[in-house]
Amino acid sequence: MKRSILSALFACLLLGTTQAQQPWFNDNDLTLTGTYYYPEHWPEDQWERDFKKMKELGFEFTHFAEFAWAQLEPEEGKYDFEWLDKAVAMAHAQGLKVVMCTSTATPPVWLSRKYPEILLKQEDGTVLDHGARQHASFASPVYRELSYKMIEELAKHYGNDSRIMGWQLDNEPAVQFDYNPAAEEAFRDFLRQKYDNNIQSLNDAWGTAFWSEVYADFNEITLPKTAQMFMNHHQILDYRRFAASQTNDFLNEQAKLIKQHSNNQWVITNYIPNYEEGHIGGSPELDFQCYTRYMVYGDNEGIGRRGYRVGNPLRIALANDFFRPFQGTYGVMELQPGQVNWGGINPQPLPGAVRLWLWSVFAGGSDFVCTYRFRQPLYGTEQYHYGIVGTDGVTVTPGGYEFEQFINEIKELRKRNVAREVKPADYTNRKAAILFNHENSWSIERQKQNRTWNTFAHIEKYYNALKSFGAPVDFINESKDLSDYPIVIVPAYQLADEALVDRWMEYAKNGGNLVLTCRTAHKDRYGRLPERRFGSMIDKLTGNEMEFYDLLLPEDPGKVTMDGKEYTWNTWGEVLIPGKDSKVWASYLDEFYEGKPAITTRQLGKGTVTYVGVDSNNGLLEKEVLQKLYGELQIPIMDLPYGVTMEYRNGMGIVLNYGDTPYDFPLPKNATILLGETKIPTAGVLVFAPKG
Ligand code: GAL
Repeated sequence: MKRSILSALFACLLLGTTQAQQPWFNDNDLTLTGTYYYPEHWPEDQWERDFKKMKELGFEFTHFAEFAWAQLEPEEGKYDFEWLDKAVAMAHAQGLKVVMCTSTATPPVWLSRKYPEILLKQEDGTVLDHGARQHASFASPVYRELSYKMIEELAKHYGNDSRIMGWQLDNEPAVQFDYNPAAEEAFRDFLRQKYDNNIQSLNDAWGTAFWSEVYADFNEITLPKTAQMFMNHHQILDYRRFAASQTNDFLNEQAKLIKQHSNNQWVITNYIPNYEEGHIGGSPELDFQCYTRYMVYGDNEGIGRRGYRVGNPLRIALANDFFRPFQGTYGVMELQPGQVNWGGINPQPLPGAVRLWLWSVFAGGSDFVCTYRFRQPLYGTEQYHYGIVGTDGVTVTPGGYEFEQFINEIKELRKRNVAREVKPADYTNRKAAILFNHENSWSIERQKQNRTWNTFAHIEKYYNALKSFGAPVDFINESKDLSDYPIVIVPAYQLADEALVDRWMEYAKNGGNLVLTCRTAHKDRYGRLPERRFGSMIDKLTGNEMEFYDLLLPEDPGKVTMDGKEYTWNTWGEVLIPGKDSKVWASYLDEFYEGKPAITTRQLGKGTVTYVGVDSNNGLLEKEVLQKLYGELQIPIMDLPYGVTMEYRNGMGIVLNYGDTPYDFPLPKNATILLGETKIPTAGVLVFAPKG
């Protein structure tokens, strides 16, 4: 204990910050591991056997009632928690905690039949129906009211039950593009509020003088139709904000209700990491953010011939770095235990891959990981989905054994008793943030100007480079303090305002190192071009002016040169007029602007501003720019090949190999190996304790 307090203090000194302690998890547990169970799918006389098996494999919690609304409220207003009480008691008898769910993703049939207005309507007029899931409209007041009633009953029943560790709301709540008349009404209300009931303000914001789009009254406004390709994109921007707010508000209300009746139980939801959807992190009542992640489903995003059995090397890392910064911790609700049922081709994961993913989740600083699901279903849509045990309910699957192995490894490492934030200084010194706002991609993707441009792929070029340096990375939003980071990257941040530009100025002037990239601050927050020289909002920061931007055909890309090397580009290139104190790092090699600058850097106050006006085809230029910046700042970095990642937590280095060949990791001097070996095989894991 003493040692862990000392190490925590030491870590805070290293980081220069004090981490807010959340009350639910204990640093020394490293991670808890759990598994989903649906008691309503199985005969009651098998429950005890199943919970015993979970316990035997080392699981510490289970997860109930996610899709059980029909069993919890078989008739309107008649609740039945008896069966669930039994399951909770049996799980508890085996020492398993329970995550309770709100089951709003699966309204019972009586609800859809009695109140058909709750059903989600698609743009083509199709009204969804009972028989699947996620068919109710978040905008429907009736659906909301009945959800809240059911949740309140559940919360009254389990809110003060110490066997329930926390709550999961809904299931993978997404942003709905719902044409239910209630959604249209709600959209109008959203706009009335946003524009202070003043239709002229809305007309100004949406530029409705263009093409006679002007409105006389809020009631004339409808939901934008995607079928109309030239639909007003200022309207679409507001519509997307509205759609995300519907999901966020529904979750927020659910969380508030539970908290009125619960004591010390956390409330979360299990988001799919669809970063650009814009809802993740948008419900302030959620205690922290959690995600679900599936790694192997047929598409080969992995490395080499067998990569489709291992998965994309940064898929979990990026989710970690996106979800953790909101509240400093995160959990993973669903991690695939084996084959899934829904991919184009559903292969077996490579032996070792399930354990690799578990370690990948852990490496980013999570507090728990959970798997979907314990038993393979015998009926229903997901019959071919693997579980921790197979179709007989007792045979442990290969993925089940990998979970067991991971759990045992973690239990052994708990004995070390080292605080979460103990990380070596050479790692934390490399820390960088990527400023992210989903609205930028909404806006850019509507007016790409080059069909080969991809906003998220642009951001990933910087992210991938940072991960190859072995740098800790946080995706942050504008609510965060930039001064926590020596380096902040602001990629393609199209929507901005003077206040934000001033914050960036202040950050740099006070010693921060800002990297701004092309397409930044071209528009205001409504998506309009400010009445000034194109792109000039950031001139005071970069010291440059932009002469113009150019776009090339993908089959005939251009080149830029930096430090004697050449890089290809075609999606977006800004031709810069450098200011007096700008140093030119890269210039164009072709066209009528041959020799003109593409990348500049300059000192601003105590910090620096680097401007990357071009998007390269393969990310090598972005990597080179960041490498040069770290070099000038004299911050040593690593050079990990794509496929290998390294992170630290709890005084442990964790190295993961998603590559198709073994990787020889240069172990820091005097480090002790805790797990694995320095020659890390494909899907292998190395865990070590650095010196001290
Ligand atoms: C997830 C979903 C789960 C289950 C799983 C199957 O997206 O949240 O409920 O359907 O997929 O892989």
